[in-house]
Amino acid sequence: MLIHSASQVLTLAGGPRRGDALGELGIIEDGAVLLREGRIVAVGPSAKLLAAHPDEPRHDARGRAVMPAFVDAHSHPVWAGDRAAEFELRQQGKSYLEVLAAGGGILSTVRATRAATAEQLRAETEARLQRMFAHGSATIEAKSGYGLSLESELRLLEVLLALDEQGPWELAITFLGAHAIPAEFKDRAGDYAQELARNWLPELKSWWASHAAGRPLPFFDVFCETGAFDLAQTRLMLEAAKNHGFPLKVHADEFDNLGGTALAIELGAASVDHLVAISDDEIAALAASDTVGVALPATPFGLAETHYAPARKIIAAGGLLAVGGDLNPGTAWCESLQFTLALACRQLKLTQAEAIAATTINAAAAIGAAGRLGSLEPGKQADLLILDVADYRQLGYRFGTNLVHTVYKKGAPYPVHSWQHEPSSKPV
Ligand code: NIG
Ligand code: FE
Repeated sequence: MLIHSASQVLTLAGGPRRGDALGELGIIEDGAVLLREGRIVAVGPSAKLLAAHPDEPRHDARGRAVMPAFVDAHSHPVWAGDRAAEFELRQQGKSYLEVLAAGGGILSTVRATRAATAEQLRAETEARLQRMFAHGSATIEAKSGYGLSLESELRLLEVLLALDEQGPWELAITFLGAHAIPAEFKDRAGDYAQELARNWLPELKSWWASHAAGRPLPFFDVFCETGAFDLAQTRLMLEAAKNHGFPLKVHADEFDNLGGTALAIELGAASVDHLVAISDDEIAALAASDTVGVALPATPFGLAETHYAPARKIIAAGGLLAVGGDLNPGTAWCESLQFTLALACRQLKLTQAEAIAATTINAAAAIGAAGRLGSLEPGKQADLLILDVADYRQLGYRFGTNLVHTVYKKGAPYPVHSWQHEPSSKPV
């Protein structure tokens, strides 16, 4: 398939980006992309590729912009129930951590999730993944974390494995048994951390070998936060997981700085996520490492808070910065990474180009897949978006409407808009 006559092809060629290079999109004007068997074979000017491949089936982009599909580097898509009543409480003045300490928050979603049937969980999760995919997220990092017993966490992994198998999206699965302290372990977070580190990890590993045949181990993540796991408990679990060979992720600095970011970097985590309360020393350490810092601006937005990750400082220091969606029922029920991108432009002060790199090639790095996803280069997987606009700068600038026209996943097209009008802007 030859996709041609794209106003702009954003190639994002050249790997994950730091510093000033974050905003370099590698744009080919009047561009084309040649796809075969789910991979990208060539990228270049339309005239050149049309002449070189006259017999190839064609998809005329009709002046729309083409870019790599989004990689959503952080989501919690598998849960039952909702927290609309809790949102109302927060609007009346209760804080997120107060609600959690009172047995609500994550724990209320845990109760609803444990009570749900496997069919219900699968159907609700599938609907969320469909909405994410239709907004351009063709690869989605997806965490368990609303079970909080080994058995119920494995049930959530089973739902995620089945939905990954089904597609068309692709999931990067993460085990987040250390998301909160379940009611059975109230005031015994240390016991829960030890139980998880000593007993669950070996069982998880052998369960994975028999249920996810051939797949590399999932990511292992911990919520290091006041009211969740302290630094010592986080270290205990992360070190045990690392010893078992799990790649690591950490939720750190969402509200309070407990040292989780420094620990994530020390242990070589693939990413450390949230970073609202990151210190200047940790920004320097992040910049000197290959750990990706994932900012999640939909979370403070969803909580109506005013503090966001210091993204400009991270970029200036030379850190690898990605932006993720953090879909979850408590802080950010948002399935549109395009909306998150608009927040990144306003609250993290990124340009549209920087926000696009942070949700494609750098987000791919956050899930260890930058060699395969996140850019349009020969040999890479054919995951791309045909936007409904001609100038990429409409992304981030506009918000609340879906600007994706067609998602290509592994070379197969999934139309989002079935009508055929001209794109709504011309590049300048
Ligand atoms: O990333 N911080 C922990 N996890 C989610 C919130 C989960 C919830 O409130 O249900 C987050 O914001
Ligand atoms: Fe999260």
